[in-house]
Amino acid sequence: MSEPILQIDGLSKVYPGGLRALDDVDLTINKGEIFALLGPNGAGKTTLIGAVCGLVRPTSGTICAFGRDLSENWRDARSRIGLVPQELSTDMFDPVRRAVSYSRGLFGLPPDQSRIEEILRRLSLWDKRDTKIMELSGGMKRRVLIAKALAHEPDLLFLDEPTAGVDVELRKGMWAIVDEMRARGVTIILTTHYIEEAELMADRVGIINRGKLLMVDDKQAMMARLGRTEAHIDLAEPLFELPPALSRFPVDLEQGGSSLCYRGGDGTGKGKADVAELTKALISSGINYTGIETRESSLEDIFVSLLGEETT
Ligand SMILES: Nc1ncnc2c1ncn2[C@@H]1O[C@H](COP(=O)(O)OP(=O)(O)OP(=O)(O)O)[C@@H](O)[C@H]1O
Ligand SMILES: [Mg+2]
Repeated sequence: MSEPILQIDGLSKVYPGGLRALDDVDLTINKGEIFALLGPNGAGKTTLIGAVCGLVRPTSGTICAFGRDLSENWRDARSRIGLVPQELSTDMFDPVRRAVSYSRGLFGLPPDQSRIEEILRRLSLWDKRDTKIMELSGGMKRRVLIAKALAHEPDLLFLDEPTAGVDVELRKGMWAIVDEMRARGVTIILTTHYIEEAELMADRVGIINRGKLLMVDDKQAMMARLGRTEAHIDLAEPLFELPPALSRFPVDLEQGGSSLCYRGGDGTGKGKADVAELTKALISSGINYTGIETRESSLEDIFVSLLGEETT
């Protein structure tokens, strides 16, 4: 039985002015899992994180962290929650190393210069340890935020678009850090616009739009439920109608009959097996083809089609 580390029930946020940024959100996060929150701009991701981190006051609903109601247990919970915020607002005049050490102290941990050095080296910030934050590039400032969040060894870590605007190398570095934290049992909730990132790192995925959590599922289960295979088969000679031998497959003739398109499967490999059967059926019906292009749908396709259904 997995142990919940965060339980959100009926959470709503209406900002002054009337915008409903969160609408009755229920979400349970288990200890040790990596959860990715996906949604378009303005969906409510940062608001949700802000509510858990005490930066946004909920309009209604409850949040329990580490088994206790946050509103009654704020100080203790806060010391165990880390946040890499989306917006860069950090102690601009402080040198890097001091800012990161300070962040550790803020959460009541004893100073540990070797740990700070390890984190700074890890994030390629060691050379910049005495540079004022305001003098760093945007990507380096983001690394400082990450260093600060790592410095206090949180049990529950929020990464709000951790890799927005950082170079490929640091993005890979981030993924390695996330893996390492996962191995240490840290629970991580991240938001990202790079769906491949969610696909790569997360155990479960939640899709949020206009303040509503539309779907939460294991990544694999979501792919299996909503994933599709699409195969385009170029025919040597155009067909004017589908031969009966192909009627059991979900196929259509396209491009004036010169291409056969298969759309089916369920994201678990059934599509590929179907396409293999289909090519056998083509050959035994004497239909020649010149090429096949097969594509498995990604989390991105699922995401786009879900949001498309929402708006229509
Ligand atoms: N302080 C605020 N006052 C009023 N409205 C706000 C405030 N902060 C956010 N909003 C609105 O709430 C909605 C959700 O914003 P939020 O920042 O949570 O979205 P997001 O999913 O994080 O988007 P993004 O992907 O762009 O970061 C948006 O419509 C936004 O304009
Ligand atoms: Mg945001």
